[in-house]
Amino acid sequence: MIRQTDGCKVAPNPDDGATRGIAERVAATLTRSGQRVEVRSVEDAGALDGFAAFVIGSAVYMGHWLKPAASFVASHRELLTAHPVWLFSSGPLGTERTDPTGKDLGEASEPGETAELLAAIHPREHRGFFGALDPLALTLPERTLRRLPAGRAIMPAGDFRDWAEIELWAHDIAEQLTTGAGPASVR
Ligand SMILES: Cc1cc2nc3c(=O)[nH]c(=O)nc-3n(C[C@H](O)[C@H](O)[C@H](O)COP(=O)(O)O)c2cc1C
Repeated sequence: MIRQTDGCKVAPNPDDGATRGIAERVAATLTRSGQRVEVRSVEDAGALDGFAAFVIGSAVYMGHWLKPAASFVASHRELLTAHPVWLFSSGPLGTERTDPTGKDLGEASEPGETAELLAAIHPREHRGFFGALDPLALTLPERTLRRLPAGRAIMPAGDFRDWAEIELWAHDIAEQLTTGAGPASVR
C-alpha cells in the first residue's frame, strides 16, 4: 500500500490533449480508490522523490511516443525501475478495432519504442488506448498529412477514448497498489 507521505504520479505528455484527459481520468479513479495522486507534465515534472508509483503516458505520433515522454523514462530509468510503473499510449482513432487486414489496431499502433521502454524500466504493463483528434488543434503539417487520402482514413476526427476501459485499467492499478497483486490479466 502507498504510504501516507507517498503518492502516485500520473505523467502524461505535455499538452492538454487526449492523453492528458486519459491521465486525468486515471488519476481521478485512483483518487477515488484512496490513493494520493498528482498529474504532472513530463516536461515539468519537478522532484520525484516521495512518489511510490508512476503512471506515464504519451500520444503516438507517426508510430512513436513523443520525445519528452520517451526522454522522461530514459532519464529517470533508475528511479522508475525501483518503483511500480504503468505505461499507456493514446493512439488509434476511429471505431474499428482491427485494420483492413484484420490486425488488432491496438497492436498495429504500438509505438516503435515499446520494447525499449519495457526493457529499460520493466513496467507492470503497457496499455494502448484509443485516442482523440480535434482537427482544429492540428499543426499545418498535420493538416496537410490529413488531407492525403490515406491520412483522413487513419485520422478521423472525434473522441474515441473508451472511458470504461480506461477506468477499469485504473481500478486494476489501484487494486495492485493496495494489495500488491499482479495485473488482473495474469491473476
Ligand atoms: C499527425 C498525426 C499522426 C498520428 N500518428 C499516429 C500513429 O502513428 N499511431 C497511432 O496510433 N495514432 C496516431 N495518431 C493519433 C494520435 O495518437 C491520437 O490522436 C492521440 O490521442 C492524440 O493525443 P494528444 O491529443 O494527447 O496529442 C496521429 C495523429 C496525428 C494528428
